[in-house]
Amino acid sequence: MCRVKIMSEENENNKTSEERYIEIIQRLVKTVVVLLLIIIALVALNIYDLTAPPKKKKTPIEYVPPKADTSSVIIDSTHANAPDTSLIKIEKNAELISYGRELIAHTSDYFGPKGKAAKLSNGMNCQNCHLDAGTKPFGNNYLAVAPTYPKFRERSGSIENIFKRVSDCFERSLNGTAPDTNSKEMLAIKEYISWLGKGMPKGKKSSGSGIVDLKFMDRAADPEKGKTVYMVRCKTCHGENGEGKMNDNGLSYQYPPLWGQHSYNNGAGLYRLSRFAGYVKYNMPQNASYKNIQLSDEEAWDIAAFVNSQPRPEKDLSKDWPNIEGKPVDHPFGPYADKFTELEHKYGPFGQIAEEKKKMKKK
Ligand code: HEC
Ligand code: HEC
Repeated sequence: MCRVKIMSEENENNKTSEERYIEIIQRLVKTVVVLLLIIIALVALNIYDLTAPPKKKKTPIEYVPPKADTSSVIIDSTHANAPDTSLIKIEKNAELISYGRELIAHTSDYFGPKGKAAKLSNGMNCQNCHLDAGTKPFGNNYLAVAPTYPKFRERSGSIENIFKRVSDCFERSLNGTAPDTNSKEMLAIKEYISWLGKGMPKGKKSSGSGIVDLKFMDRAADPEKGKTVYMVRCKTCHGENGEGKMNDNGLSYQYPPLWGQHSYNNGAGLYRLSRFAGYVKYNMPQNASYKNIQLSDEEAWDIAAFVNSQPRPEKDLSKDWPNIEGKPVDHPFGPYADKFTELEHKYGPFGQIAEEKKKMKKK
């Protein structure tokens, strides 16, 4: 042991100062290289962390409820209200008005496929779309009808009275034929609708009546996005295939259909995306209301696009909109007075079409 140590010391001592010098430099170089490697490694790790894409979980597409979206929400406590039904009895024609209300609420019992008055409609009730027998605020109610009819309507290009407007919903929304204008039933419906609106200001569409116009989106409505929302928010009641669900008595629907052969046809108001979106935003899922909004505007537009892309009965519409300049921006059938396509008129974006329409009117 001792010898070895002495020998190595001797060895050391034997090195020339030049050799030692080189050795020191070599050590220094090694240290610097190691330090450099460590620094590069640290930098590399850092960059990786900053730019690495978030790891995707392999879960199925999840429904993420949207941010609260109140851009089109009207909170108007002064909106028009329907008169109290207990007041019907003081009217001279109380019996007729009550019968009209009954027909709006239980249309299918009288006019559906098993109707006791006639079999002439698809099994839906007026009330399925005109909620609470046409009285619900922002629920497509009838409060503006008596004050504004008769009136000129572009769809028919003629002055329409209440009978004509009711017949339209029988032929389009109920995909059937209208009862005779002279029938007791048509008279009753007209009397009830007139009674609802008789206290409203003449010539005006009061706040809360009819369907709310939502703001247009900047983009076209997207049926694919709408489908995702539909499957989460609507399917439970209206069914995977939009078929709805009959009541146990088989006379009318517990959950009305949204597409397919028993639904409204392609000439109905709800077939226009703006009508569907405005109706749904304020009224669906069931029990939603202007005080309890459950969908964002985007969801309402996208579901409208999805539902109205599904098959449904078709009506001969060749006599509709005789003046093509009078077509609304979301009427999906040409010819048009503007340069936009049927696809753009169906799904939007509607803002640009509305702009163009305004310009054409000024000329
Ligand atoms: C599938 C849905 C649906 C059904 C069912 C339906 N309607 Fe309609 N109805 C509409 C839509 C949509 C409008 C247009 C509302 C708008 O543009 O603001 C409308 C408009 C009307 C109007 C004019 C309202 C106004 O303020 O100008 C009357 C009157 C009417 N419907 C009566 C009836 C009657 C009566 C029945 C039953 C025989 C019926 N509707 C069934 C969807 C429906
Ligand atoms: C909890 C059950 C339920 C859910 C969920 C629901 N609805 Fe409805 N929906 C109804 C009922 C019930 C009616 C008929 C209302 C009446 O007669 O009073 C209706 C009526 C409708 C109507 C008008 C009638 C028709 O069949 O055309 C449309 C459109 C509609 N719903 C769309 C939707 C959409 C879109 C969703 C999802 C955002 C939805 N609903 C979610 C129960 C539901």
